Amino acid sequence: MTTAARDWRANPLRDPQDRRLPRIAGPCGLVLFGVTGDLSRKKVMPAIYDLANRGLLPPGFSLVGFARRDWAHQDFAQIVHDSVKQYARTEFREEVWKQLAEGFRFVPGNFDDGAAFERLRRTIEELDEVRGTAGNHAFYLSIPPKFFGDVVSQLHEHKLAEPVEGSWRRVVVEKPFGHDLASARELNDILDGVFPAGSVFRIDHYLGKETVQNILAMRFANAMFEPLWNSNYVDHVQITMAEDIGIGGRAGYYDGIGAARDVIQNHLLQLMALVAMEEPLSFEAVNLRTEKLKVLRSVRLPTRLDLATARGQYVEGWSGGVKAAGFLEEDGISKRSATETFAAVTLHIDTRRWAGVPFYLRTGKRLGRRVTEVAVVFKPAPHQPFSATATEDLSHNALVIRVQPDEGMTLRFGSKVPGTAMEIRDVNMDFAYGGTFTEASPEAYERLILDVLLGDPPLFPRHEEVEESWKILDPILENWARKGKPDTYESGTWGPASADKMLARDGRTWRRP
Ligand code: BG6
Repeated sequence: MTTAARDWRANPLRDPQDRRLPRIAGPCGLVLFGVTGDLSRKKVMPAIYDLANRGLLPPGFSLVGFARRDWAHQDFAQIVHDSVKQYARTEFREEVWKQLAEGFRFVPGNFDDGAAFERLRRTIEELDEVRGTAGNHAFYLSIPPKFFGDVVSQLHEHKLAEPVEGSWRRVVVEKPFGHDLASARELNDILDGVFPAGSVFRIDHYLGKETVQNILAMRFANAMFEPLWNSNYVDHVQITMAEDIGIGGRAGYYDGIGAARDVIQNHLLQLMALVAMEEPLSFEAVNLRTEKLKVLRSVRLPTRLDLATARGQYVEGWSGGVKAAGFLEEDGISKRSATETFAAVTLHIDTRRWAGVPFYLRTGKRLGRRVTEVAVVFKPAPHQPFSATATEDLSHNALVIRVQPDEGMTLRFGSKVPGTAMEIRDVNMDFAYGGTFTEASPEAYERLILDVLLGDPPLFPRHEEVEESWKILDPILENWARKGKPDTYESGTWGPASADKMLARDGRTWRRP
């Protein structure tokens, strides 16, 4: 049972099943490490404001920034202000901002500076007193993993990690959760030594997306998909996350990491797990994770990794009508970098449901356009009582989950073209969020930060899932490392020719999303 659920139960007039009650965080605060980073400014700070604006944060909510800057509280408030103005989803309302900003504090210091953490402890105690945060604080580590050790041991040493009776302390970590299995285990040991497993929240922001959660609703709330959801009917599954942007200013992070570690290890394997898993006993964290883990553990890699995977690096080209530089020309990238900006892998899931159904995962920067989708492609009908010419324009039936943009789902099937002859062609049936629901979807970070503050874990991968994902990826990365440089592809195209060949060998083609 979550803390939130316990709180509701404490009030006999509040029933946790009652959907009219919004999920509102109780008294609490958040301490943000890495306040100057891109992620904090573009995602975390705006999401906090949006939550406040939607009335989902407690009135005394406090945000403490911690960084190696010589700032006063107002300087920090200005940074948050600018980020909110630029990136918040909801409108800027002066009264919301004023109330929120009263809870801002800044603590200057290095991650290895004990005195700074002592100041942090006093700041938090002061907030408990003046803002009523009641000892409930989440520590958000939006910092490179090499600093986790320092910060976490300081939190421990200065008694910041241990809640007093009746309150909570949680830690939020962002990927990369290591760069391979061994380093992921090291990171986990660091966290594990200080915070109990239930207090560690690992963010995979794809799980915060409405359209990703909808995979569960679509599969398990409906009768019509499940009977087809297996190797009797499904030919293969394609999961694509394409971006039109390059690496922007992230050379420091991206070089040496690459597309597979950045996206496949987390977002795409999580998407695959949701698509492939069995029905969970319930949507409680433990049951969801059990089913996702089973999928990840049943993954079998193809024997010929050289033929069943592909990787590429973008070179100069045209992206969105603008000339785009190649990866090796980007600021901060070594001219000899072998980092891949495109990765595609074939995975098999060794279960009765999925035997013989390949899952193709691909991701890349500087591709044709920004789109994430899951396409479940069905086998042809076992018998076609039509002439070959009648079905010339009929391809495979497909169910496409459009994760973003243009959120929704498309069902593709054959239909008779009006006229005197029998001619069958692909048509699409569409569900679009935009045209169906009046409320706009919250940003993934709004949902995830609220869940952290409520102590609600289902949307956060556990360490075991992270480990299993590395076990899948490590052999592929080792294989690539032995093979030298990735292939190249022109910016604005759909990746290297090797990715097309990879599917062509199986007699298939990538969808053009
Ligand atoms: C992040 C990756 O996890 O996801 C980035 O590190 C990528 O490289 C980003 O750009 C994409 O997120 P979204 O939500 O825009 O698909």
